[in-house]
Amino acid sequence: MKGIFIYSFVITLILSLAQFNLSNAFGEKIDYKKLYKNHKCIKCHGFDGKGTKRGKKLGTPDFTDAEWQASVTDEQLINSITNGKKKMPKRGHKMTTEEIKAMVKYVRFFVPKKKRK
Ligand code: HEC
Repeated sequence: MKGIFIYSFVITLILSLAQFNLSNAFGEKIDYKKLYKNHKCIKCHGFDGKGTKRGKKLGTPDFTDAEWQASVTDEQLINSITNGKKKMPKRGHKMTTEEIKAMVKYVRFFVPKKKRK
């Protein structure tokens, strides 16, 4: 009896995981987190947007800093991601415009709403 319970639990788990992946693959929504990770942004900018050790050495801005956020426009960020900026590698050849715009939105998420200017 116990065996059957565990078996059906595992099956349910596998099924729900499979469903989750399918809805991800066919969903219209862009998966910001995945893009950020897959395009190595995380290597320099870190999962929290503050910049990793490696990133800081290269001069990454702190995405959680409201002052910094207020000092840059979306157009500028799109341009920096597309064409690169100093040590920031260009991404225009590897990402679509939609994806780059999504990344700008993601970068904006790092500042808590209350602190946004
Ligand atoms: C090799 C490390 C590295 C990687 C990988 C990287 N960045 Fe950067 N990024 C930087 C550095 C360094 C800067 C600061 C550039 C400067 O102003 O000198 C920067 C700046 C930025 C800025 C601010 C641009 C501006 O106009 O001030 C944005 C937005 C950004 N990165 C987004 C991304 C995104 C999105 C990705 C992934 C697609 C990414 N970065 C990947 C190093 C990196």
